[in-house]
Amino acid sequence: MLRTHTCGELRTEHIGQHVTLSGWVNRRRDMGGVIFIDLRDRYGKTQIVVDTGESAESAAIAEQIRPEYVVQVTGTVSARLPGQENPNMDTGDIELKVNDLTILNASKTPPMLIDRDGGEDETLRLKYRYLDLRKERMQRNLRIRHKAIKYIRDYLDNNEFLEVETPILFKSTPEGARDYLVPSRVHPGKFYALPQSPQQLKQLLMVGGYDRYFQIARCFRDEDQRADRQPEFTQLDVEMSFVERDDILDLIEDLVRGMVNATSTVPLAYEQFPRISYTEAVEKYGSDRPDLRYDLPLVDVSDIAGQSAFGVFANNVAAGNPVKALVVPGCGDYSRKQISELEELAKVNGAKGLAWLAIDPENEQIKGFIAKFFTVQQLIALTERLNAGPGDLILFSSDTRLVVRAVLGALRDEMATRLGYKDTNTLAFAWVIDFPLFEEEKEGDHYAPSHHMFTSPMPGDIPLLKTDPHAVKAAQYDLICNGYEVGGGSIRIHNRQLQRQIMELIGFSLAEAETQFGHMLEAFEYGAPPHGGIALGIDRLMALMAGEPNIREVMAFPKNQNATDVMADAPSAVVQRQLDDLHIALAGKALERVKSS
Ligand code: AMO
Repeated sequence: MLRTHTCGELRTEHIGQHVTLSGWVNRRRDMGGVIFIDLRDRYGKTQIVVDTGESAESAAIAEQIRPEYVVQVTGTVSARLPGQENPNMDTGDIELKVNDLTILNASKTPPMLIDRDGGEDETLRLKYRYLDLRKERMQRNLRIRHKAIKYIRDYLDNNEFLEVETPILFKSTPEGARDYLVPSRVHPGKFYALPQSPQQLKQLLMVGGYDRYFQIARCFRDEDQRADRQPEFTQLDVEMSFVERDDILDLIEDLVRGMVNATSTVPLAYEQFPRISYTEAVEKYGSDRPDLRYDLPLVDVSDIAGQSAFGVFANNVAAGNPVKALVVPGCGDYSRKQISELEELAKVNGAKGLAWLAIDPENEQIKGFIAKFFTVQQLIALTERLNAGPGDLILFSSDTRLVVRAVLGALRDEMATRLGYKDTNTLAFAWVIDFPLFEEEKEGDHYAPSHHMFTSPMPGDIPLLKTDPHAVKAAQYDLICNGYEVGGGSIRIHNRQLQRQIMELIGFSLAEAETQFGHMLEAFEYGAPPHGGIALGIDRLMALMAGEPNIREVMAFPKNQNATDVMADAPSAVVQRQLDDLHIALAGKALERVKSS
């Protein structure tokens, strides 16, 4: 070893010992006669002291070294002089008096600060990720990630789960995003698809008898990037046989609670995760992944508003649509400009406009262009229903149920941000259950699965598949936290006929179903056990647990918003011979790009 200890290890009990450290030069201070070097590795920092009068050779080397040089130091651990201790450093009571200093490698001047967060542009951070990884923030985040994954593996191992790896070169999986395809050299014109999740394979493992499976699985989805999305990401993928919904929820809740309590820097808001129905989530909070760190509920006022003389409300209610309202405490003094910002947000989410009322904090007069359409009694009934008081702002939405949800859901989220309700130091987990099997809006002529096509209907609802598919509830559940979906799963269909019936409803012809999923349908004929499972988005969980605003902060080498690895420059052009091997000829835009580059 080129060291006897790490840079975070030495304490007063080591005083007098002769040790060797290796690490990066964090900082060098020349005090005239003495040179101080802070030596850093991922365990911490140690102060090195070179007395120029004692070792001319070491002093000459110390003169040369610059930040990020890699050096090896041998010396004696000494107590710092009284008053010179540094309580901000774990090793702050000692220093290493150098006998021997060696430069192991030089470094160019780094393009960013390493010893503190310099607020660098993210592109720079990603281009020099190996330098960014030296910083405390990334080291802390990757440590949390390692510890959490270890906790998961230990927990599941103690509960009889087997970790099984499944292929990356596989076939299209129906998670709803675009696939990444890999052309086959051996089979011209054919492609593997990288798995969007191991969904089919874990179900086949159940048929194979591995009744408790898990995998820390890499998944690939070609979709637009957001703060919580990456083209490749990691799931904790779980599947179990002979279980019911609550068996899975109870186990995963216990696992997540234990993992957060043991490894997170951010604590749980509460120990028991509430279970709320999909209907409650969308009706009360305007989202199927509501942020439960605050309440701000959407309240139905159709009965009162429908009686008003405001044509939009009256007509919508007459047509069977709702009027709902959101009370925003203390924002009754919003300016015209602030209201029009909110109106823009409402419009982006499908509203035609934004009706509002504001209650004056002093004289309690109600302002807003719709006030004149309400009688005094109606206004009193409204404020009582909404529990609105002086100084409050009331935002309304009236449209189809789906638009009202989207509009007020977005306003709820925006107002919570503005009001500072999003406490970053708490994790409010909850389960959303009782989803509809199909999305409320059809895709063309067909029903669109709300999770994926292997999700089982609630057993009692199966007859409704023939009469009223939209009324069918799914044995599906999502784990949510602070407004993010951190996991989703379901009890699966294990019966070929039912699987065929669902495939037909979502528009798969018999021939298509056989080509794409023939292996699944066939497997279901060989004694498939009742089974179900879930997948948790590890990156999202880790970002929440590290208090980070996006998942790139908890991934060692993420892609940027454009799905590009700016460090390695991937994706990149390949040589013609590789394309020939794969029987691929570029055309159109791709050809133009390559010619112009
Ligand atoms: P689902 O598609 O809901 O379910 O994915 C499960 C969880 O994975 C995370 N996730 C992502 N994280 C980062 N980047 C992405 N692009 C991304 N996409 C999804 C989310 C999500 O909740 N096979 C099913 C699970 C099952 O039924 O067992 C599945 O993949 O946190």
